[in-house]
Amino acid sequence: MRLILLGLPGAGKGTQAKILAKEKGLLHISTGDMFREAAAEGTELGLKAQEFMKAGALVPDEVTIGMLLERIEKPDAQVGLMLDGFPRTIPQAEALDAALAKQGSQIDAVLYIVVPESELMERLTGRWSCSQCGAIYHNQTKPPKAAGVCDECGGKLTQRADDQPDTVKARLDTNRAWTEQLADFYSKQGKLHEIDGTGDPSDITKRLLSALEGVSAGSEKA
Ligand code: AP5
Ligand code: MG
Ligand code: ZN
Repeated sequence: MRLILLGLPGAGKGTQAKILAKEKGLLHISTGDMFREAAAEGTELGLKAQEFMKAGALVPDEVTIGMLLERIEKPDAQVGLMLDGFPRTIPQAEALDAALAKQGSQIDAVLYIVVPESELMERLTGRWSCSQCGAIYHNQTKPPKAAGVCDECGGKLTQRADDQPDTVKARLDTNRAWTEQLADFYSKQGKLHEIDGTGDPSDITKRLLSALEGVSAGSEKA
C-alpha cells in the first residue's frame, strides 16, 4: 500500500505516520526529517535545504523530487510507503505519479488531516522531539515522563529551529495554498479522504484507519 499524509504544519502528520506505518507495515518517509538529518550531517544537500527551512519556505522542487525518488527506489521501500510531507507541490505530485507508474504501482489513498489554523501555532511552539528516535512530544498535550528525556529511548528532547512563532507563521503562509491545490489534485483522482484532525490523537488514528478500510493496495480507483 502507498499512502500520503497531507496537512498543514502541525496537523499531526508525523505523529500519525509513525503509528500507521507500524500498523500497516509501511516505510515512513518524511522529507522534513530527511532534510534535517542531511543538515545535521552537514552535507551539501542538507546545508542548502536548511536555508529554505529556516525561512519557512519550501525547498526547491529540483532538490526535493530527486531526493524522494531516489529513496523510494530502494529495496526497503518496496514494502509500501507512508509519505509524510511529500508531495507539497503539484510538480512533486506529478513526478511521484510518473515514478510510481514506471514501477507499475500508484498512490492508493491520500489522507488529508484537517485542523483549524488557530490550533496549529500552539501545537508547533510547544513541540519537542527526540534527537535519537524522532518521537514527538508536546509540553502541554503530550509531555514526557521526565522533562527533556524521551520516554521511549532515553534520548535528549530538542525543539526544532523552525518552530519559533515567526517561522511558524511563514510556514503556514507558504503551505496554505499548496495544501489546497494538492487536496484538489487528489480529489480529482478519487483518492482524497478528509479526516478531522482535532481531538485525541488516538481518536484521529481510528478515523484514519477506518478511512483505509475500503482501500486496497494497487487497486485502480475511479
Ligand atoms: P516538515 O518537517 O514536514 O514540517 P511541516 O510540514 O511543517 O510539518 P510538521 O512536521 O511541523 O508537523 P506535523 O504535521 O508532522 O505535526 P506533528 O505530528 O509533529 O518540513 C519541514 C520543512 O522542510 C518545510 O518547511 C520545508 O522547508 C522542508 N520540506 C519538507 N518537505 C518538503 C517538500 N516536499 N517540498 C519542499 N520542502 C519541503 O505534531 C505537531 C505537534 O502537535 C506535536 O507537538 C504533537 O505532539 C502535537 N499534536 C499532534 N497531534 C495532536 C492532537 N491531536 N492534539 C493536540 N496536539 C497534537
Ligand atoms: Mg512532521
Ligand atoms: Zn527517543
